[in-house]
Amino acid sequence: KRVTRELLEDVQAIVPKDVTIMHVRQGVANGLGHAIMCAHPVVGDNPFAVVLPDVIMDDAASNLKKDNLAEMVSRFNTNRVSQVMVEEVPEEDVSKFGVVDLDGAKITAGQSAKIHATVEKPAKDEAPSNLAVVGRYVLSEKIWELLEFTPPGAGGEVQLTDAIASLMNLEQVDAYYMKGKSHDCGSKIGYMKANVDFALRHPEIGPAFKEYLASKNG
Ligand code: G1P
Repeated sequence: KRVTRELLEDVQAIVPKDVTIMHVRQGVANGLGHAIMCAHPVVGDNPFAVVLPDVIMDDAASNLKKDNLAEMVSRFNTNRVSQVMVEEVPEEDVSKFGVVDLDGAKITAGQSAKIHATVEKPAKDEAPSNLAVVGRYVLSEKIWELLEFTPPGAGGEVQLTDAIASLMNLEQVDAYYMKGKSHDCGSKIGYMKANVDFALRHPEIGPAFKEYLASKNG
């Protein structure tokens, strides 16, 4: 009874009315590929999207008609080609990500190209490019059986990247270059930057937060 109507609406608006959330717990830290397999009973033998929540997408500056994931889903629905979202990262950072090889093709925001190879967390001098996978995937149902047989890879964990490499032997997989900006909230500095960017333009707290930051400069 004490909750104001406004706060209740804020909380309820997080989940659209036609969406049901189910939770599956990955009891052991055995990699992203294994985590996804834990969700197989819920998803069934269907295509699906993977959204890694430590990557926050910021579409504000990019004038998107459709957000990146919606764009990837419509591409998949049109041609049944699995989609992996990528962006360029500095060369010294490639070892933190899955990295794709487009066989020399150059793509920019909103464009896609066929992936020829993909490798999880390569050393800087072994990386095929500086195009990193950024936490959004739309994958064909064929990936399920491949995941079952994917042995532990980088870090001794079952890697989604390795299952995607196997999928590429069966069917085309495209890299989709994201529009807008991503925040890597798996790192402390990335998490702080995301908070600052979103807070600065928040209709309610933006002006006061800006003033507060400005007071820190002096
Ligand atoms: C995971 C994926 C990796 C991807 C990264 C960022 O790694 O395995 O391919 O580039 O997310 O989205 P993690 O951050 O879990 O180490």
